[in-house]
Amino acid sequence: MAAPKEVGGYKLGKLIIEGKTKQVFDLPEQPGHCLLLNKDRITAGDGVKAHDLEGKAAISNQTNAKVFEILKAAGINTAFVKIASPTAFVSKKCDMIPIEWVTRRLATGSFLKRNPGVPEGFRFTPPKQETFFKDDANHDPQWSEEQIVSANFKINGLTIGQDEVDYMRRATILVFEILEKAWALRDCALIDMKIEFGVDPEGNILLADVIDSDSWRLWPSGDKRLMVDKQVYRNLTTVTAADLDTVKRNFAWVKDQLDHLKPTVHHKVVVFMGSPADQEHCQKIAKAARELGLDVDLRVTSAHKATEETLRIMQQYEDTHGALVFIAVAGRSNGLGPVLSGNTSYPVINCPPPSDKMVQDIWSSLSVPSGLGCATVIYPDSAALMAAQIIGLQDYLVWARLRVKQLHMAAALRQADKKLRNQV
Ligand SMILES: Nc1ncnc2c1ncn2[C@@H]1O[C@H](COP(=O)(O)OP(=O)(O)OP(=O)(O)O)[C@@H](O)[C@H]1O
Ligand SMILES: [Mg+2]
Repeated sequence: MAAPKEVGGYKLGKLIIEGKTKQVFDLPEQPGHCLLLNKDRITAGDGVKAHDLEGKAAISNQTNAKVFEILKAAGINTAFVKIASPTAFVSKKCDMIPIEWVTRRLATGSFLKRNPGVPEGFRFTPPKQETFFKDDANHDPQWSEEQIVSANFKINGLTIGQDEVDYMRRATILVFEILEKAWALRDCALIDMKIEFGVDPEGNILLADVIDSDSWRLWPSGDKRLMVDKQVYRNLTTVTAADLDTVKRNFAWVKDQLDHLKPTVHHKVVVFMGSPADQEHCQKIAKAARELGLDVDLRVTSAHKATEETLRIMQQYEDTHGALVFIAVAGRSNGLGPVLSGNTSYPVINCPPPSDKMVQDIWSSLSVPSGLGCATVIYPDSAALMAAQIIGLQDYLVWARLRVKQLHMAAALRQADKKLRNQV
C-alpha cells in the first residue's frame, strides 16, 4: 500500500509500522501523536487467510471510535484521540506492549482446544483473563503472568513488572465488563475479547490499538448461530463474494448498533438542603457526584418550615425522571430526609452537615419512624458514591465510572508503595 502524504488534513510523517490491517504514521505537526489508517483488508489465522474487502476500513474506523468513546466516557485511560478521516483516527503515540490481553465470559474457540474437557459455553465468573505473546511466527503463544514479568519488557522507559501486569489484568477485565454491559442494552452477549496496551512517552499505560469486530465474539441474543463478528470469516473454508458481503453486512450492523449503546435512563440526583447555610457541604456532594458523571440539582427547602413546598419540589422530580436519588442535608434535627423518605418510593440519603453536635444530631437521621427506609452517611463523598451506586443499577456508564475509580485508586496506592519501596 503506497504511503499517502496527508489524511483528513493531517500532514503525515514517516510510516512507523505497517501491519495486516493498519498503517501507523507519525504526525510531525502533532508531537506525541500518530495516525492509524485502516485498510480495506480482512485477515485470519495470522494472515494465512486474507482478502480485500471494500468498505471495511471505514466500518472498522467508526466501530473503533464508538467503542473508545464509550470507554473514555467511563474514564478508562486510552490512546484514542479522535477520528481524522472516514478510515483513519488520531491516537497518542505509544510503544506497544507485545501482549494480547484476552477476556472470556464463555468458553469457546481456542480455549476449548487448550482446555479439553471444558464444555463450550462454560461460564467464567469472574471473566477468565488470558495473555498471549504477540509473535505471528509462533502463532502468538499463550504466556503466563510469570513469563510476562520475567521478560522484563522496557517500554518507553517503563519496566513491565508485577504492578503493571496486575493493573493491565484488572483494566482488561473492566474494559470487557463495561462493553459487556453496553452490549446487553441491545441483547447482544459479548463472549470474549482481545485488547492491547501501549506506553506513552510519559510512561503511562494506555489502552491502545483498536477494538472492532475483529477484537471480539458477539452473539445476538446469546445465540452462537447468530454471531456477527470476525469468526464468521474465520469459519469459511472457501470464500465467495457473497460470503464477504455477509461479513461486511455483519460488521456494518455492529457499527450501527453501537449508536444505541448510550444509557437511555434520564437520571437526576437532587440535593435538598434545609438552609442556605448548608451550601458548602452540599457543593462538596455535588462536586463528587458530578465527577462520577451524575446530573445534580441543588435545592433549598425546609421540611419543618415549608413542608408542602418540599413535597411539591419532590413530586416535580418524580414526574420527570426515571432514575432519581434524593440527598437530604439538614443540620440539628433532620426532618427533611425522613419526610422525603416517608412520601416517596425513591431512595433518600441523609448526609447531615458537619457540626460540634453531630453525635447527638445524627440520631434524628438514624432513628426514623417505622415504614421509612432512608440511609445515612456523614461524608459528602460517601453520599455521592452511594447515589452513583444506585443510579449505576440502571446506567452502566455510571457503574463503569465507579469501577474505573476503584481501579485508579488501587493503582495509585500501588504507585505510592512502589515509590517508597524504591527509596529504601
Ligand atoms: N497508538 C499506537 N501507537 C503506536 N503503535 C500502535 C498504536 N496502536 C496500535 N499500534 C500498532 O500498530 C501495528 C499495526 O497494526 P495491525 O493491527 O495492522 O498489525 P497486525 O498485522 O495485526 O499485527 P499485530 O499482530 O502486531 O497486531 C500493531 O503492531 C499495533 O500494535
Ligand atoms: Mg493487530
